[in-house]
Amino acid sequence: MHKAKSPDNKLVFQDINVSINKTVILQNVSGVVHSKEVLAVMGPSGSGKTTLLNTIAGRTGAKSGDIELNGHRLNKRLRRKMAYVLQEDLFYTNLTLWETLYFTAMLNLPDKIPRFEKLHRIDEIIEALDLEKCRKTMIGGMFEHGLSGGEKKRLSIGCELLTNPHVMLLDEPTSGLDSSTAYSLMVQMTDYAQKANKAIIVTIHQPSSQIYHLFSNLLLLTDGQVAYNGSPHDALEFFKNIDLVCDEHYNPADFMCKYLILKSNTYVNQIKHSGQLNQKHRSVNSNTQSSQHKHSKTVCCNFLNFYLISKIHSDSNMSHSYTNFKTCFYSWKPNMLFQKFLVRDILKVKESKSRFLSKYAVTMNLILSLACGLMWFQVDRTYSTIRDRMGFVFFVVVFWAFTPITDAILCFPKERTIMMKERAAGSYRLLAYYLAKSCSELPLMTIMPVAFVTISYWMAGFKGVPEFFATAAIVLVSSLVAQGMGFVIGASFRNFQTAMTTSTTLMLCSLIFGGYYSQKFPSWLSWLKYFSFLHYPFAAITILEMSDTENIM
Ligand SMILES: Nc1ncnc2c1ncn2[C@@H]1O[C@H](COP(=O)(O)OP(=O)(O)O)[C@@H](O)[C@H]1O
Ligand SMILES: [Mg+2]
Repeated sequence: MHKAKSPDNKLVFQDINVSINKTVILQNVSGVVHSKEVLAVMGPSGSGKTTLLNTIAGRTGAKSGDIELNGHRLNKRLRRKMAYVLQEDLFYTNLTLWETLYFTAMLNLPDKIPRFEKLHRIDEIIEALDLEKCRKTMIGGMFEHGLSGGEKKRLSIGCELLTNPHVMLLDEPTSGLDSSTAYSLMVQMTDYAQKANKAIIVTIHQPSSQIYHLFSNLLLLTDGQVAYNGSPHDALEFFKNIDLVCDEHYNPADFMCKYLILKSNTYVNQIKHSGQLNQKHRSVNSNTQSSQHKHSKTVCCNFLNFYLISKIHSDSNMSHSYTNFKTCFYSWKPNMLFQKFLVRDILKVKESKSRFLSKYAVTMNLILSLACGLMWFQVDRTYSTIRDRMGFVFFVVVFWAFTPITDAILCFPKERTIMMKERAAGSYRLLAYYLAKSCSELPLMTIMPVAFVTISYWMAGFKGVPEFFATAAIVLVSSLVAQGMGFVIGASFRNFQTAMTTSTTLMLCSLIFGGYYSQKFPSWLSWLKYFSFLHYPFAAITILEMSDTENIM
């Protein structure tokens, strides 16, 4: 059992100073966490807890300070030994719990681990985190009900556990959970730290007293400064020394936060001052502390009898491949990339299906194609109906430009947050993401426009079979261009309102210059039509359809 454990790790952060836009967020924050320990970073909202985790994870730059893992300054390679569970649980809402883990495993585990082993690992995580009963449940989002808050949080943690990190950073894992779920989650994490020999840093706003006593160490922050750094059991003694006495039955966390939250309170400066002194004392002693820090309490929880210890690590070969997690990500091997595409492909098909082939999208397209077909039903192919037929062409072209562009802008903010999270964790390159996304969406993107043209074209009784295929191809290409433009706009503007206004302006300008409303532009403006992406499909289909009618263009 002992030899199966992860190596001992020690993460030290020393005198961290962080400023964002000239505002000081963290000031001389230091701390240390060893394997088997849970360091709780506590403090009122806005005290800098998340910023500290972001800094340790390398997502926020520090003005000064050192962060070391086992005596080595943290770099990109060492950071891959850490996992960061964000406060917000970001998932593709249409995937099931199992699919989410599968997706993460395929994306984050090295290709040399065989598929059956990855699947086995997913099953073990599901079992260890007690997620068996919701294995096939959809994650769910704002509008569709799915996993509960506690299950989502455990899934977030499970996704990170897949790569067997040595250090785990958890940002407010208990926020939004009821007290018993929060307690059981923290017991699981404490148990995991002890049994799998992991170092865990967890930020927490105001824990219950039960949770408070689970922590090995406490780092109390106020206004970005350390108020206390040491054992949670000695914290009340520390407060007592500055004449703040906690009632025996009072929750220590509530007691501390009560004083820290009142910025005008005269005690705060005193706490800060004593905190800095206490922190100096601790950082001097931290180097002499044994890495096998004696944790006086035994947490009685058999629940997370962790698979990492008993199964994976007992097999030295597997352990080797397992601990080399994430190492080959930035090697630029085509077959590896192809695999990533494949995973993305399979899963994105499911996600995109709900977007492109949802029953609402199918119904809307069916109604509009039938309406279009009925409106121009078997229209005569004579000179007098030219204007009508051009109306048909105009409608089809505009519809298949507006829909994809709006759709792309609408879906992008959600995808961007998940993609940024995965990229920050070093899961893939941007190009790989984009190519995988395009490849997986392409087949679905073709279905609707082609179906629309097939129904409306034959109902309207347009020209013939070759022209039909050409028209379908033109509409398809034009809808893909529109979708691409939607992505460019969605990626360029963080503000959704700005993105929508830009796309509307672009669409209306393309309509004006496209050549439908006016055949005779002022000569000095005629070049503008070449900038209209609607001009090309409109002109091409009109030529196809009217080429047997004289003087139409
Ligand atoms: N990007 C940013 N720009 C300006 N201020 C920020 C930024 N990020 C965080 N802050 C500020 O830093 C302080 C600490 O934030 P945070 O670390 O999120 O606190 P906590 O997690 O303890 O609630 C807050 O006052 C917040 O307003
Ligand atoms: Mg926070």
